[in-house]
Amino acid sequence: MAILKIARMGNKLLLQKALPVDDPLGSEVRDLVYSMVETMGDAPGIGLAAPQVHVPLRIIVFYVPEDRSEGTGDVPLTVLINPSIEYLSTDMEDGVEGCLSVPGMQGIVPRYKHITYKGTQLDGSLVQREATGYHARVVQHEYDHLDGILYPMRIGDMSKFGFSEEFERNIEAAK
Ligand code: NI
Repeated sequence: MAILKIARMGNKLLLQKALPVDDPLGSEVRDLVYSMVETMGDAPGIGLAAPQVHVPLRIIVFYVPEDRSEGTGDVPLTVLINPSIEYLSTDMEDGVEGCLSVPGMQGIVPRYKHITYKGTQLDGSLVQREATGYHARVVQHEYDHLDGILYPMRIGDMSKFGFSEEFERNIEAAK
């Protein structure tokens, strides 16, 4: 395991479509996933996609802590290799997002409210879940990384994008 260097916005690798993993049970994949989890914990963050650590493969790791789950329940650390997403309705909602590849910034991003997703886990088994709210948001954000999309590219109104410290100042001022 190792803490890996995280690519930041502007790095071309973050704009590429990642490639499917041929052998999810391979030892290289396992080592990469362990290092991704360690890197995510160190950052700290709640999600990470392989292209963010300079590996153009379709692998994401994430979890949702109880206090960020918006009442839908926490989600344990999840590894998805070759994931896919289906949208269960066309309803979208705005929510705040940040990204380890866009440090110090945050934005308000529209995401689908209700999805199902599936992917292969490290033991080769398939995980399939229905997700709403913040859980669905995290999965869509991480999945986007596999298609070369960073969350600022999803923000239509750039007044909804800026430095986290400034947003926090606004919130303080509003109290
Ligand atoms: Ni991200």
